[in-house]
Amino acid sequence: MASSELSQFQIFPMARHNGRSKAAAFFADGFLFVGGVLVAFLVVCAIWSFFSPSPSPAPSFSTSVVSSRESSDISAAAANPAVSCGDDSGPNLGHDPPEQNFYDDPELSYSIDALPVKNWDEKRRAWLKQHPSFSAGAENRILMVTGSQAKPCKNPIGDYLLLKLFKNKVDYCRRHGIDIFYNNVLLQPKMFSFWAKTPTVKAAMLAHPEAEWIWWVDSDAAFTDMDFKLPLHRYKDHNFVVHGWPSLIQEKKSWTSINAGVFLIRNCQWAMDFMEVWASMGPQSPDYEKWGEILSTMFKDKIFPESDDQSGLVYLILKEKEKWGNKIYVEGEYYFEGYWMEIVGTFDNITERYTQIEKEVPALRRRHAEKVSESYARVWEEYLKDAGYGRGSWRRPFITHFTGCQPCSGDHNQMYSGQTCFDAMQKALIFADNQVLRNYGFVHPDLLDPSTVNLLPFDYPA
Ligand SMILES: *[C@@H]1O[C@H](CO)[C@@H](O)[C@H](O)[C@H]1NC(C)=O
Repeated sequence: MASSELSQFQIFPMARHNGRSKAAAFFADGFLFVGGVLVAFLVVCAIWSFFSPSPSPAPSFSTSVVSSRESSDISAAAANPAVSCGDDSGPNLGHDPPEQNFYDDPELSYSIDALPVKNWDEKRRAWLKQHPSFSAGAENRILMVTGSQAKPCKNPIGDYLLLKLFKNKVDYCRRHGIDIFYNNVLLQPKMFSFWAKTPTVKAAMLAHPEAEWIWWVDSDAAFTDMDFKLPLHRYKDHNFVVHGWPSLIQEKKSWTSINAGVFLIRNCQWAMDFMEVWASMGPQSPDYEKWGEILSTMFKDKIFPESDDQSGLVYLILKEKEKWGNKIYVEGEYYFEGYWMEIVGTFDNITERYTQIEKEVPALRRRHAEKVSESYARVWEEYLKDAGYGRGSWRRPFITHFTGCQPCSGDHNQMYSGQTCFDAMQKALIFADNQVLRNYGFVHPDLLDPSTVNLLPFDYPA
């Protein structure tokens, strides 16, 4: 069924940037870069000290979003230039200008039941203009959103598994400077289970105007490549990204031709409108039953009669191509998310391949701060050129999704036992944790034993 993935060993454009094959070149680049940053920093400081009432000193501001600082920020900076130099390195979390913005509009509602927000693109842009310290990097800023139920899990080890699955996401986010929101309550009480995403994502879009993308990741999905980054440049003409098989959508009209458990949605007006249409198929809607019938008629392989978000999404891709489908990118060329059954058996061989590479390449075994792990990930790409992506690849799978395992309820698919699910989750989570613990000097020797670690010797695995 997923054989289309086998043939997709396309090299991402991003891999082309990784031409550093020698440690020497890598370190030289590093020093050049540090030197450049230092010079830029000194120049910025000088500008602030001597010309503080002048406009933006920060060349990195994304020009498409904002062109200059607001005067209130300028005067605050002028009052204390030394502090402003320090603050310049990141978003200013301690200041919200008194001027009105969309938050002050009593008509604007966070509820999925309310009409979609209007002119959201303008409102977001105006907010960014009021908060210029958030402009740098705004184009690629991601907020991860995930969550689980309000009450304790029925499965006695459900909460244990959810905690580990959440830790795994936090680890990934920390390594890549991504913010994360874990929601524990149904924001629209009738939108249970898989429908809970839509109200949460709408609220997150409004709470995070600084983020360009909202990245919904189901609680039962685990990051199993801590280095891989979303190739956002691919999605620049799209507003929604989901994993799937385009051929299955068109030809088979299958409700499982995509997986709606992980998706990226752009924080824009299109998304506000899309969420309303998508949510209108949900259990809170007067059209819920009608949608159940429409979707069941359209998707012959659908196993239950009620309307569900995944079938609804395939429907919109197929039936409303002009309005929605054309802006939805169906990603099938890497594990944007992947089915655990086809992934978990590959961890041992993948670990072996990666260890072999580290044995041969000193630059990859060099100990380093976790904060700079992305720079090592770039060097890694040089050695992963032949690994491929997705099914059949020996690259670490990006996201392993435990679809059907239902860790919280324990009501897993009867195709496999609860123990099979549990072992697979342990294995994936330890496989991921080993990539994290590496920076902390330790490793789990056994992917099925979460409580044992060994101290890594210097220069491991020379
Ligand atoms: C792992 O590698 C061994 C030896 O190369 C091979 O026989 C085996 O099929 C591989 N296992 C998987 C799951 O790919």
